[in-house]
Amino acid sequence: MALTFLLDGEAITLPQVDPTATVLDFLRYRLRRTGTKEGCAEGDCGACTVLVGSLEDETVRWRALNACIQFLPMLHGKALMTVESLSTDGEPNALQTCMAANGSSQCGFCTPGFVMSLHGRAIGASGCELPVADVIAGNLCRCTGYGPIIEVGETVGPIAQDDAGLVARLGEIAGEVASGEWEGRAWFAPRTSDELAELLAQHPEARLIAGATDVGLWVTKGLRTLDTVIFLGDVADLATIEESDEALTLGAGVRYADTHAALARLHPELGELVRRLGGLQVRNAGTVGGNIANGSPIGDGPPALIAFGAELTLRSAQGQRTMPLEDYFLSYGKQDRQPGEFVESVRIPRPAPDAVVHVAKLSRRFDSDISAVCGAIVLGVADGIITSARVAFGGMAATPKRAAACEAALTGHPFTESTFEAAANALAEDFAPLSDVRGTAAYRIEAAGNLLRRMWLREQGHAISVLDIEPAHG
Ligand SMILES: Cc1cc2nc3c(=O)[nH]c(=O)nc-3n(C[C@H](O)[C@H](O)[C@H](O)COP(=O)(O)OP(=O)(O)OC[C@H]3O[C@@H](n4cnc5c(N)ncnc54)[C@H](O)[C@@H]3O)c2cc1C
Ligand code: FES
Ligand code: FES
Repeated sequence: MALTFLLDGEAITLPQVDPTATVLDFLRYRLRRTGTKEGCAEGDCGACTVLVGSLEDETVRWRALNACIQFLPMLHGKALMTVESLSTDGEPNALQTCMAANGSSQCGFCTPGFVMSLHGRAIGASGCELPVADVIAGNLCRCTGYGPIIEVGETVGPIAQDDAGLVARLGEIAGEVASGEWEGRAWFAPRTSDELAELLAQHPEARLIAGATDVGLWVTKGLRTLDTVIFLGDVADLATIEESDEALTLGAGVRYADTHAALARLHPELGELVRRLGGLQVRNAGTVGGNIANGSPIGDGPPALIAFGAELTLRSAQGQRTMPLEDYFLSYGKQDRQPGEFVESVRIPRPAPDAVVHVAKLSRRFDSDISAVCGAIVLGVADGIITSARVAFGGMAATPKRAAACEAALTGHPFTESTFEAAANALAEDFAPLSDVRGTAAYRIEAAGNLLRRMWLREQGHAISVLDIEPAHG
């Protein structure tokens, strides 16, 4: 089946595509749309930002994405807008004119990416409710500086985007399960989790690709060839968010940008954690399921979800199974997932209203950076005694991991400074972290302990500035 997407409203149909050809290469080398730049080819700089629109609830939902780590089949049934789409008869639009007039561009290499991020905000794309600085946190500029760029974002008002014609056309091209073959390599894009389970039973060796914010780098930086791939982006029933009085259940295919409000309602510190997970382009693509399934020891989602007592559900053609999230991570690079299984959802219990919670991400750069240490502490307290403690860290071991000795030092003990000090010291029994580019082992142990000490101080009413703990000196 051919791959079809709309570029500026015109259908582009590709009978056969390399399943892991990037959208960026296609734009630059096939279409000669060279306004979209390649800076890093790993999702970090935003120079390749494009807007991709999907049909959701009879409207077009636009998302700013990094074209360098989006694969072409992920565009099937979508609408695409590049920086070239913005000009009319060769004339720049209001936003571009303002960038030029305001001195917001020097060498100009980053400019198309910034323009696309800001244009997304102006047309009401995903994340448009965020402050300008958050919307462009995934765009890097080496020469102008961010002040004049932020000014443009704050000056230019909403831009009208007429998607009426697109809605019907996207409905026509989306179709059923999409699939294709290329030189003996196959790709599939199922529409339901039943279809996904069936496909995975037939192709247990297939590589699942959700947002491709990890897998994209295997291809662009690792130069890996993936033979059979199954794209999860169109599996509608994996992208659901269910909120009840008891819990929040996130489908594995929910993009992090779409979790922000629901996680912030579960607890404000979870909302803040999501705001700092990658830049907006990464959150617009990266999924909750991918963040768990990749088993990364430095992923930001798992430590907090473990501390909140989350349960993970896996699914295959044989059925489902559910486990405490922490049990999924067996050892470095090894998770409790059998061939034919996929991550279906994660259920996060709502914390008790009087739970004492602290979630912290320490990274060298405040925005759009991977954690050196990421920790979460959830305590139940009654009559001055800590009745329950769940403490989990990332960046401290080969997997995201609970801190059993630290929890024991808290549980059943009085809510006092000396208890927090003992719990901080107990972390040395729980973890023997590595030294790497993000921090030394000694730094990590000390910083993790300081999260407990800071929690105590904050509970005593001391103002704790987030900036005090940045950056993580190695
Ligand atoms: C610039 C940049 C910044 C980043 N910053 C952060 C950060 O601050 N914090 C952070 O935690 N992460 C960060 N990441 C990593 C990444 O974005 C996240 O881990 C993201 O959630 C991965 O999700 P994905 O859908 O893109 O996964 P993919 O790349 O699609 O897949 C990742 C892995 O999970 C598997 N997989 C995906 N979905 C499923 C499923 N449903 N069932 C089974 N297996 C599945 C894939 O086969 C693959 O092995 C960053 C990445 C980039 C490129
Ligand atoms: S080229 Fe840097 S994010 Fe794509
Ligand atoms: S203007 Fe040169 S990198 Fe931004």
